[in-house]
Amino acid sequence: MITQECRPKLFREVSGQNLPKTVLKAICKSPATSPRTIILEGEYGTGKTTCARIFAKALNCKYKLKDGDACGKCEDCQSDISNSIYYEEYDSSIIGNITDIKELKETFYFNESLGYKVIVLDEAHLITPQAQSALLKLFEESPAGIFFVLCTTNSSKILNTIRSRALTLKFDLLSQKEIEDNLENIAKNYLQIDIDNDIIKLVAERSKGHLRNAHMLLEQYQMLGREEFISLYRSCTELYGMFIRAIICKRSDILSEIIEKLLHYRLSELKSEYELFVLNIIKLFYNENASDDKQMIFIVSYFKHKKNNFIDILNDYRNYDMFNSDIRFTSFMWLLADRLKQLTK
Ligand SMILES: Nc1ncnc2c1ncn2[C@@H]1O[C@H](COP(=O)(O)OP(=O)(O)O)[C@@H](O)[C@H]1O
Ligand SMILES: [Mg+2]
Ligand SMILES: [Zn+2]
Repeated sequence: MITQECRPKLFREVSGQNLPKTVLKAICKSPATSPRTIILEGEYGTGKTTCARIFAKALNCKYKLKDGDACGKCEDCQSDISNSIYYEEYDSSIIGNITDIKELKETFYFNESLGYKVIVLDEAHLITPQAQSALLKLFEESPAGIFFVLCTTNSSKILNTIRSRALTLKFDLLSQKEIEDNLENIAKNYLQIDIDNDIIKLVAERSKGHLRNAHMLLEQYQMLGREEFISLYRSCTELYGMFIRAIICKRSDILSEIIEKLLHYRLSELKSEYELFVLNIIKLFYNENASDDKQMIFIVSYFKHKKNNFIDILNDYRNYDMFNSDIRFTSFMWLLADRLKQLTK
C-alpha cells in the first residue's frame, strides 16, 4: 500500500506543513521545557498522524540534527515507531468514555527514565465531554515523560479548558504544487516507475489537498493502467470538451454518460472561470433567450457563425475574465437533461 509504504519517517520528508513541523522540531530540541499537550488540527490525510509518529522518533533519537529532526540512521530511527514503547495511538472509541482519572493514569503510565513517550488520541473531538474533563485533570498533572497529542479534524468540539492549555498546530490542505512534487518523488524513489505529467496533474487535481487521497489514487492508477484510469478520472475540463463534441454530434447516448460523470464532481470542483464559461455557453446553446448579458449575446452570435469551431472558440476565451456569474450546477444539469430530450428528436 502506497499510503503505508510512503509514509514519511522524518520531518524533512513531510510535504508542506512548515509551521507544525518547525514547532515540533523545536520541541524535540528542548522537550523538558515545552508544553506537554499538543493539538494537531486539520483535514484528514494532511499529515497529522504522520507528524505525531515522527515527533516520537525525533524526541528519542540520540543523534538528532541541529534543527531537531531525527537522524534517520540510528537503531531507534530505523525501527518501527508504531510498535515501540515511545509511541501509542488510542482511538477515541477506546478512551472516549473513560471518566475515571485513576483508570486514565494506569492506562497511560510510562517510565520516564526510558525517554519520552508520545500518546496520540486520534479523532479527539469524538471523546465525550465527561471523558475530556477527566483527561484535562490528567493533562494538568503532566505525567513525567509523556506528550499527549490530540489529533482532530474539528477542534471546536474539544473543551475550551483543554484548548486554552494546549499548544494548537494547524495542518493545511496541501497545494496542487506540493502534491505534484510529492507524487513525482514517490513515483521516482519508491515505486520506480515513470508516470506522465498529465496523470500527476490529474491525480493532484482530484485529491483536493488531501495527500492520502492522492496516494490512494496513485495506487488505483497502478492497478488500472493509464487508459482505464483516465476514463474514470478525466479532469472536468476534458469532460466538458467531450460534452460539447457530443452535443455537436448529437450523440445523446454519450452525453448522458458524460453528464453522469460530471455529476460526480462537487460544485466547488467546477468553479473555475473556464468551466463557468462553458456552462454559460451551453446554457445559451439550448436557450437563446436565457441571458440579456451583452457579452454573452455577442459570443453566442459568434458561436452560431462558427458552429463547427465551437471548441476552438471556447479555447480562445478560456483566459478571459468575463464570466463570473454563479450558475447552480445541479439545476443547470436538470435543465440540460430536459433539453436532451429535444436533442434526440
Ligand atoms: N504532509 C504530508 N507529507 C507526506 N505524506 C503525507 C502528508 N500528509 C499525508 N501523507 C500521506 O498520507 C497518509 C495519511 O496521512 P496521515 O498522517 O495519517 O493523515 P491524517 O492523520 O492527517 O489524517 C500517510 O501515510 C502519508 O503517506
Ligand atoms: Mg490520522
Ligand atoms: Zn536517530
